[in-house]
Amino acid sequence: MRKHFRQAVILMLMTSAHMATAQTTPYQVQGGNKVDDATLAGWRAWRNAACERCHGPNQEGMVGPSLIVSLRTLGRDDFKAVVTKGRVDRGMPNFDGSRQVMDNLDGLYAYLKGRSDGAIRPGRIEKMD
Ligand code: HEC
Repeated sequence: MRKHFRQAVILMLMTSAHMATAQTTPYQVQGGNKVDDATLAGWRAWRNAACERCHGPNQEGMVGPSLIVSLRTLGRDDFKAVVTKGRVDRGMPNFDGSRQVMDNLDGLYAYLKGRSDGAIRPGRIEKMD
């Protein structure tokens, strides 16, 4: 009886740890350059909106701050707000007029979070198997 109880507790702990990981990782990645569809769409939006003009081709910052650093602390809601409304007076444009960016805000966040975590490599990425 005791043994079974202990096994059940261990199983519960493992399950909740697994669920916590799944919740805190908004992207899926294989081998550093293959990602899920939403993350890939986010990367495409990044490229078409040319965020790299100010944040650098590897997201490490230029005129705009390093998003590798920012995304360590910037949460999803704050990310969405700043990209949507911009901080126009401080040089960050608003992207609420860009259909592709607005339709892929979650994927864009997921992509940049994966870059910030060091899980997604810089440069070209493709669809995972
Ligand atoms: C014309 C230059 C420019 C472009 C293009 C640009 N940004 Fe920015 N961005 C900035 C600047 C400058 C800031 C810093 C604003 C400030 O001082 O608060 C910034 C801030 C941000 C922040 C907030 C960072 C933080 O630490 O609070 C995020 C997130 C961000 N940009 C994402 C993007 C994304 C995604 C795109 C493309 C869709 C983009 N930016 C395109 C200039 C730019």
